[in-house]
Amino acid sequence: MNWIVPLSDIKFGDEEKNAVQAVLDSGWLTMGGITQKFEEEFRAYTGAKHAFAVSNATVALHMACLALGIGPGDEVIVPSLTFVATANCVRYTGATPVFADINGENNLTISLSSIQEKVTPRTRAIIVMHYGGYACDMTSIIEWARSQHIPVIEDAAHAVGSFLDSKHLGTLGAAGCFSFFSNKNLSTGEGGMIVTNDDVLAEKFRLLRSHGMTSLTWDRHQGHAWSYDVVELGYNYRIDEIRSALGREQLKKLDGFNARRREITNRYRELLSDLVPDVIVPFKDHPGISAHHIMPVILPQGSDRLKFMEKMKEQGIQTSIHYPPIHQFTSFKKEGKVLSQLPVTEDIASREVTLPLYPLLTEEQVELVAYAVRKAYS
Ligand SMILES: Cc1ncc(COP(=O)(O)O)c(C=O)c1O
Repeated sequence: MNWIVPLSDIKFGDEEKNAVQAVLDSGWLTMGGITQKFEEEFRAYTGAKHAFAVSNATVALHMACLALGIGPGDEVIVPSLTFVATANCVRYTGATPVFADINGENNLTISLSSIQEKVTPRTRAIIVMHYGGYACDMTSIIEWARSQHIPVIEDAAHAVGSFLDSKHLGTLGAAGCFSFFSNKNLSTGEGGMIVTNDDVLAEKFRLLRSHGMTSLTWDRHQGHAWSYDVVELGYNYRIDEIRSALGREQLKKLDGFNARRREITNRYRELLSDLVPDVIVPFKDHPGISAHHIMPVILPQGSDRLKFMEKMKEQGIQTSIHYPPIHQFTSFKKEGKVLSQLPVTEDIASREVTLPLYPLLTEEQVELVAYAVRKAYS
């Protein structure tokens, strides 16, 4: 399909190409010195105490669950309006994801009152997801979770460059998990980062990422170690130097990219303002600084969403859905025990449409999309 405006697009510059070429020329491809630099730069950018680069955000979430000791018989409260990884990471440990509802049309993040309804003596953690890079209600969620001694994991896959009260999202809970998948604000194709301020969790992440080994191939190459012990069950969740090199260059461009995403989001708001309140553009006046990862709009109740998306397609505009709710997927329904009624999620998920948003969008393209929305809606 030749879209006039695709949902997302990326373009790497000479900076990324030269950085990748330098890795190839160096002959050292597996996790090493470039990754250490990427971790240090990402750590400094987010203000976290520790940062570990990993293969993707899904494994980062799995590591967070494992490091918190979550396993069979435990429950973890998660949103359903998110990518399936937010719940699958819980299932990998043998624990059960318990789905909580979202706040409403203007705030698509997990609701504290729904979390409070879903908590049981078996609840061992809460995973929040900063939808579109917009902060969950972290002050109240963390305060309440602390009072219950329940750790909070942040799925910050959308939130590279998002801040609340000058703190980077992902650094507010026990651990923050970031994605560098190709459509993300910082892109390495596949890749991720896990951050924490907790020294004990950090040590666990170090071991979990690489088979529980006490030294790495890189350490031995550097002459720092001859052998290693394996002190616990770990995984190969490492990143490589090519992706870390890409990530370092992308990190330098991130603030500029996110500023452009913000401009485009504001422009969409202006251009669609006369359709409000029939069509909702969520997260109006939302607290904090968002990374503006995606551009959701909510159609009126009773709308035919597929017809709307079909009409956008006829005009050459690619749209998407974020997200089909996880608790309605066959694989989750089969587990029976995770079935739950989530009226707000179910209503809004059936009306949500995501419009194109990426830094390369031109003013003309944004106007074209807004015009197409108007035509598809009428
Ligand atoms: C909200 C959310 N969580 C987790 C993930 C998983 O990220 P990754 O593809 O890096 O494993 C994604 C990726 O799309 C996501 O959007």
